[in-house]
Amino acid sequence: MSSPIKRHFFVCTNSRPPEAKPSCGIKGSPNLYMKLMEEVEKRNLFGKIAVTATGCLGPCFDGPSIVVYPEGVWYANVTEADIPDIAENHMQNGQTIDRLVYKWPQI
Ligand code: FES
Repeated sequence: MSSPIKRHFFVCTNSRPPEAKPSCGIKGSPNLYMKLMEEVEKRNLFGKIAVTATGCLGPCFDGPSIVVYPEGVWYANVTEADIPDIAENHMQNGQTIDRLVYKWPQI
């Protein structure tokens, strides 16, 4: 039997000391996590949409970082002002927010 979870948001909430490398937690990502959880409640999506706070996802200099599966879409520099857009379009309707998509450096 497959999981009833249709979409899973992972929000980096890692924090480092201010004098260290940048981190999403210092830039307010715990609040983003809470706001996304509120949207799940408001939209009655519990059991269909998961939101998980995680450790470092990698693109620390461009955080706060969020990755969404199954699409494998990465968002960067997310702010609280972006949450309604993410909730309405991606969480609810599965549409990527192009303006927030992280552009991975070419290796
Ligand atoms: S601290 Fe968030 S991606 Fe590294």
